[in-house]
Amino acid sequence: MAMESLHYCPSPSSYLTRWWSNETVAVVTGGNRGIGFALVKRLAEFGLNVVLTARDKQKGEAALETLKAQGFTANLHFLLLDVSDPLSISNFASSFQAKFGPTLDILVNNAGVSYNDLDENSVEHAESVINTNFYGPKLLIQALLPLFRSSSSSITRILNVSSRLGTLNKVRNAGIRGVLEREELSEEDIEGVVGKFLRDVKNGTWKRQGWPSYWTEYAVSKLALNAYSRVLAKRYSCKGSELNLSVNCYCPGFTQTSMTKGKGTHTADHAASLAATLALLPPHLLPTGKFFLLPNNNTNFLNPISKL
Ligand SMILES: NC(=O)c1ccc[n+]([C@@H]2O[C@H](COP(=O)([O-])OP(=O)(O)OC[C@H]3O[C@@H](n4cnc5c(N)ncnc54)[C@H](OP(=O)(O)O)[C@@H]3O)[C@@H](O)[C@H]2O)c1
Repeated sequence: MAMESLHYCPSPSSYLTRWWSNETVAVVTGGNRGIGFALVKRLAEFGLNVVLTARDKQKGEAALETLKAQGFTANLHFLLLDVSDPLSISNFASSFQAKFGPTLDILVNNAGVSYNDLDENSVEHAESVINTNFYGPKLLIQALLPLFRSSSSSITRILNVSSRLGTLNKVRNAGIRGVLEREELSEEDIEGVVGKFLRDVKNGTWKRQGWPSYWTEYAVSKLALNAYSRVLAKRYSCKGSELNLSVNCYCPGFTQTSMTKGKGTHTADHAASLAATLALLPPHLLPTGKFFLLPNNNTNFLNPISKL
């Protein structure tokens, strides 16, 4: 994958021309802790209307209370959402519509799981990881598409929180890589790849099939999420598409959260601050179909890799 010479430096003063208002609506999944929680806070600081979602009502409400105690009162909301449960997604879409109508400006698919410790590579939870990290965002996007704001003056945005572990260069099987690199990649192609992985796991053959070698089940889930983001970005950048929608992926790097048992090169606040910069790029700087990487060396540059 070729790196572009362009780097996005998340300096609010140079990049964040304020195109949004206090009516701009952002949804963050998995907002009760980690990067999601820090991102909800950051977006609220910027004055957006933020919907913190969580799969557990108590945890979600507690997170909301924590933020309210810090002074964020007017512009924060909580709605229940388990991205691994299609019924919960459908209920969430209905609740969102009832409360906000078709006004969604920014969707951040942040919720994610990994069941491995840093030095493990079990695929015991492959199905659950794929359901949460790939099918969850996909079904949620499909349910929310009719609720994105239709506006000629702004661009609606989807930011998928992904991982460098799921980039194409981690796939050692040339056949699988070839499918995912197709110019005319389809949703069926991606589901075919995911289905093959789950069959390989079931048959006990996954180790010899050239799948990514580190955190394999998680890497495949993010590989599929990246591929789906590419399909969507292409669909909505066509002339005449019904939505003015940008779709990008963001790898927050090795971040100190529960997922890494607190290990990492930087804090969730740092990762979230760069995610907010990306989600809030002004229309003239906002790309689509890009994979952004926060380096693990604590620098402030986001490197967009040209192709998802
Ligand atoms: N930390 C890293 O180094 C790193 C690196 C690359 C990418 N990422 C990605 O960053 C994102 C955030 O992860 P994190 O590091 O902040 O991890 P985290 O602290 O473990 O937070 C994960 C969040 O996702 C939620 N979640 C899990 N399954 C869900 C479901 N089915 N429905 C709704 N919410 C669900 C969790 O809710 P509960 O509290 O209910 O479990 C929690 O709020 C993930 O997509 C992850 O893959 C993280």
